[in-house]
Amino acid sequence: MKNKKIIEFKKKNYAIFNQDAITLLKNIPDSSIDIIVTDPAYSGMNNHLKLGKGRIVGKYKDKGERGKWFKEFIDTEENYSIFLSECFRVLKEKSHIYIMFDSYSLLSLGSVVRKYFPVKNIIVWDKAIIGMGHYFRRQSEFILFSSKGKKPISNRSTNDVWSIKRIVRSKYPTQKPVELFYKMIFASKLKDEKNLIVCDPFLGSGSAAIAALKSNCNFIGGDISKKAISISNKRIQTFIKKKIDILEEKKIKK
Ligand SMILES: C[S@@+](CC[C@H](N)C(=O)[O-])C[C@H]1O[C@@H](n2cnc3c(N)ncnc32)[C@H](O)[C@@H]1O
Repeated sequence: MKNKKIIEFKKKNYAIFNQDAITLLKNIPDSSIDIIVTDPAYSGMNNHLKLGKGRIVGKYKDKGERGKWFKEFIDTEENYSIFLSECFRVLKEKSHIYIMFDSYSLLSLGSVVRKYFPVKNIIVWDKAIIGMGHYFRRQSEFILFSSKGKKPISNRSTNDVWSIKRIVRSKYPTQKPVELFYKMIFASKLKDEKNLIVCDPFLGSGSAAIAALKSNCNFIGGDISKKAISISNKRIQTFIKKKIDILEEKKIKK
C-alpha cells in the first residue's frame, strides 16, 4: 500500500491529518499503534435525538452547517466493520483500544466491536452534570475497552465508573475533557514502556492529542473537518511551547 510512511515522527512527536478516519488508518502500517482512543461522530445518535424540529444535543456557540456541527461518520454495520478491521490491523500485538459510545450507538454498534476485539469492559463516563434527554436525562457516556492480544492495565485498582466533569460551553462541539483520554492512556501505558504511539482518527478539537503528549507518548490523529485540524494544530503547538491548553484554559502540570 502506498504512503505507508505516515507513521514516521521526525522532529515532532505528533502528526495530524485532514483525512477521513478510514483513509488515515489505511495509511498507517500494520502493527504500529500502541493505543487507540477515539470518540467517533456517529450518524445514528443525531437521528435518534430529534425532538420536534430541533435536536437535544446541547448548545454551542458554533451553530454548524445545515444544523450539523460536523460531518458524521456513516455508522452502518458495513462501514463500521471496515473501520474496526483497520483499527485491528494497525494495532500492535499487545495493545489496547478505547471507543466512546453514546447509549444509542452502543446498542446498535457495540456488538459489532465484538466481531473484531474481545471486549473487556464497558466503562461508564459519569459527566457529573445533568444533560438533555426525553425521559431520564443523560449524564453518562460509555467507553468500550478492548485489547488486541493480552496486555494488562497499569493499575488493577481502577474501577469502571469514571466521574469526570464534562466541559461546559466548550469551544468545539462535543469537546471531551483531556482528563478522560489521559485516564485511558495512563491505564494502558505500563511502567517502563516508552515511545508509545497513541492514535485518534476522530480528533475533533485535539483533546486526545493533548492527553497523549501530556503522557509523553507520540500521537497520530486525523479529522475530516479542516476546522478541527486547524483548532487541534493551534492547541497542540501552544501546549508544546507553553504547556497551556488553550481549550481548557488551565496550566497543565506534567
Ligand atoms: C465527537 S467529535 C470528536 C471530539 C473530540 N473527541 C474532542 O474532544 O474534541 C467527532 C469528530 O469526528 C469528525 N468526523 C466525522 N466524520 C469523520 C470521518 N469520516 N473521518 C474522520 N473524522 C470524522 C468530526 O469532524 C468531529 O470532529
